[in-house]
Amino acid sequence: MKILLNEQQIGLGIDRLAAQLKLHYHDNPITVVAIMTGSLVMLADLIRRLEMPVCISLIQASSYRGGTKSGDLVIQDRMMLDITDRDVLLIDDIFDTGKTLVQVTQRLTAMKPKSIRTAVFLNKLGQSVVTAIPDYVVFEIPNEFVVGYGLDYQDLYRNLPFVGVLEDSDLKNHSSV
Ligand code: IMP
Ligand code: MG
Repeated sequence: MKILLNEQQIGLGIDRLAAQLKLHYHDNPITVVAIMTGSLVMLADLIRRLEMPVCISLIQASSYRGGTKSGDLVIQDRMMLDITDRDVLLIDDIFDTGKTLVQVTQRLTAMKPKSIRTAVFLNKLGQSVVTAIPDYVVFEIPNEFVVGYGLDYQDLYRNLPFVGVLEDSDLKNHSSV
């Protein structure tokens, strides 16, 4: 598998994000809302670099039904904290078409937080179909299907410590998974 971002690069990227968040939020408490399951690894790495008080809340959104094609978005918010009047940072693994981040942001806005900002680990250049853009992007990547650091193909590869480009041969090998 071709490695796009190695562990060291990723670590430095998350350091940068934590520093940007400190500049904006200072010591004010924030609630990090992580879109499951893709942002799980980013969540664990980011929160350990934050010095302000942090609450963690989970929301699930699934748009890729197993493969690499986009499907309808299903949002499940049963694990959400009460975010009324809180400063919320919504994080996701990747901004592709942008539909997931936009729809989850709308869902959270309805819960009346004090503020919402968005941070994504990856931004796939040229793929967005929405006008909104994330407030923070850790890395820009070309339009390739990537896995690792939380990102999956058919729920596999999330545990890779690096980001790799899935090749056609990998896709074929897992057609039965
Ligand atoms: P969007 O709604 O099109 O922006 O898609 C965002 C979601 O699609 C992410 O949360 C990922 O779960 C998934 N996704 C998009 N591109 C990739 C990729 O290259 N690898 C793995 N998952 C992806
Ligand atoms: Mg996914």
